[in-house]
Amino acid sequence: MNEKIKEIQAEIEAFKISSQENLEQFRIKFLGSKGIVKGLFGELKTVANEQKREMGQLLNALRKTAQDHFDNAKESMESQVDEDSKVDVSRPGDQIAVGARHPLSIVRSEIIEIFSRIGFMVSEGPEIEDDWHNFSALNFPPEHPARDMQDTFFIEKGEEEIALRTHTSSVQVRVMENEKPPIRTISPGRVYRNEAISARAHCFFHQVEGLYIDKDVSFADLKQTLMYFAKEMFGEKAQIRLRPSYFPFTEPSAEVDVSCTICNGKGCNVCKYTGWLEILGCGMVDPNVLDSSKIDSKTYSGFAFGMGVERIAQLKYRVNDLRLYSENDVRFLKQFTPEM
Ligand code: PHE
Repeated sequence: MNEKIKEIQAEIEAFKISSQENLEQFRIKFLGSKGIVKGLFGELKTVANEQKREMGQLLNALRKTAQDHFDNAKESMESQVDEDSKVDVSRPGDQIAVGARHPLSIVRSEIIEIFSRIGFMVSEGPEIEDDWHNFSALNFPPEHPARDMQDTFFIEKGEEEIALRTHTSSVQVRVMENEKPPIRTISPGRVYRNEAISARAHCFFHQVEGLYIDKDVSFADLKQTLMYFAKEMFGEKAQIRLRPSYFPFTEPSAEVDVSCTICNGKGCNVCKYTGWLEILGCGMVDPNVLDSSKIDSKTYSGFAFGMGVERIAQLKYRVNDLRLYSENDVRFLKQFTPEM
């Protein structure tokens, strides 16, 4: 019997358990109610009395070996399953591709934000406009060259001319017609001009125009407002200068330059060694424009300004080709993140 126990001991140790099936086979063979170990215990009664104690101990040890072998195999199999299904919380997460905001949206939002801090509302209007809102109400003389086919995309010509708006001043006309002063509004939006597409010009672009009408609004208010904008947009060091200009709807009119953001006014190829970059047009609203929209020009005065979003974005991000904004190349688009 002693021999037999040793043999079985060796057999148990050599039994490789690699699957649930194996495990069950092992259990039945060695530990089951009709298994080998149980059988040996049954044989104990045939052993001579003086050997019973020793044999009993050997059998108990054998049963323990079988039980341990079984338990270990079972445990390692379970932990294997666990390993596979366990989530490793320390692993870096999968990258989720989120889109980036378009540079023009970022800059437009920033412009809106800057003006909203000093009380400007946002107003919007249609991109398809009639002659009145785009031109006539803005004091464009009938034969003014800006109405020429060169600049304007006409949709319907004739008595009632319909065109794609060439500026968002048209929205300001709508605001003046519908609201009473004080008016403080900016109108962001897309505008269209019939230009050959190149690095410096496109047939559509985006503007933000501003309008402020109240009693006693002066040119000093305009200048201070633009100064505030330039510093918020381009930094504390930014300076502005105004050059006399002409727009049919403002008098006097000016074009505004900001000190070159790249060389800080020292002169570089971006500012063409002048130290200045043109950013917008502005002026005091022409009394004719106020009267056209039924705002009494004897009581009220106002200023207006208009800027191109592409231009501001170009200065901010040094984009040197306008076409990049509308080509949807992800290599370009993914480079812009808004300032937090
Ligand atoms: N509407 C002008 C343009 O499109 C800009 C402008 C707005 C100029 C308001 C003066 C005052 O260029």
